[in-house]
Amino acid sequence: MSISPLGRIIFFGDIFGKPGRNYLMRQLPAIKERFHPDLIIANGENAASDKGTGITASIAHELYAAGVQAITLGNHVWGQKEFVEEIDSVPFVCRPANFVASTPGASWIDIPFHGKHIGIACLIGREFMKMLVESPFQAVDTLMAQHPEVDAWIFDMHAEATAEKVALGWFLNGKALAVLGTHTHIQTNDAAVLDGGTAYMTDVGMCGPFRSVIGHKIECILQRFQTNIPQRAEVATEDVRLCGCIIDVDLETLKAKSIQAFQWPLAVEPSPQS
Ligand SMILES: [Fe+2]
Ligand SMILES: [Fe+2]
Repeated sequence: MSISPLGRIIFFGDIFGKPGRNYLMRQLPAIKERFHPDLIIANGENAASDKGTGITASIAHELYAAGVQAITLGNHVWGQKEFVEEIDSVPFVCRPANFVASTPGASWIDIPFHGKHIGIACLIGREFMKMLVESPFQAVDTLMAQHPEVDAWIFDMHAEATAEKVALGWFLNGKALAVLGTHTHIQTNDAAVLDGGTAYMTDVGMCGPFRSVIGHKIECILQRFQTNIPQRAEVATEDVRLCGCIIDVDLETLKAKSIQAFQWPLAVEPSPQS
């Protein structure tokens, strides 16, 4: 029996502020050497968190130069006002595909992968997201129908509600190569290849400081939760880690062969009981 060749994709979750992006850029050479990915994708919606939220063109270019080939975004896409003007000049980023069509920026990215076309897009959920967006279910149907030239799709489902993410995973089972959740910044323990060959994970986690509340300094968030006094949440700096997933793809079928949650530094084996 012949074994199909495999391709490997690494997807990193929300890059958070300077600590997250600097650590990712510094560690990418070692990660590449260890895992040999053919394609690296990251969610960059919080990459400029030290300036508030969002991303800028110059940060996107820095990440690209370090090896991130495609950047998805999310509800904080316009966190840096200048990015509204800049986005059309950055060909390797996409804004959420379920914004109205006239919104600046591309709704998907076309990436060459072993002689095939991979389409990458992100979608915003509608549960608890406080955003006016079209149905992510309808948006993926439309996007896929408009682009029959794409051989396989990877969707970043940027959403708060677990059920909405799981539902999109099943909706795209057999139709997408991967449906990967972002936005909650906490990695979930449910990476699986669905029976149609779609890699699925509810949230791939965050690239940023873990001694924090999803990226922000603990003290600021505790104050806010307890007193309701609005204050600027500062980016935390300690215990920076990278979270994401690694997907191996059958290059003959372009279906997922495996998906594993990824954390860097790699988890240390628990020490044996004495
Ligand atoms: Fe985020
Ligand atoms: Fe988000």
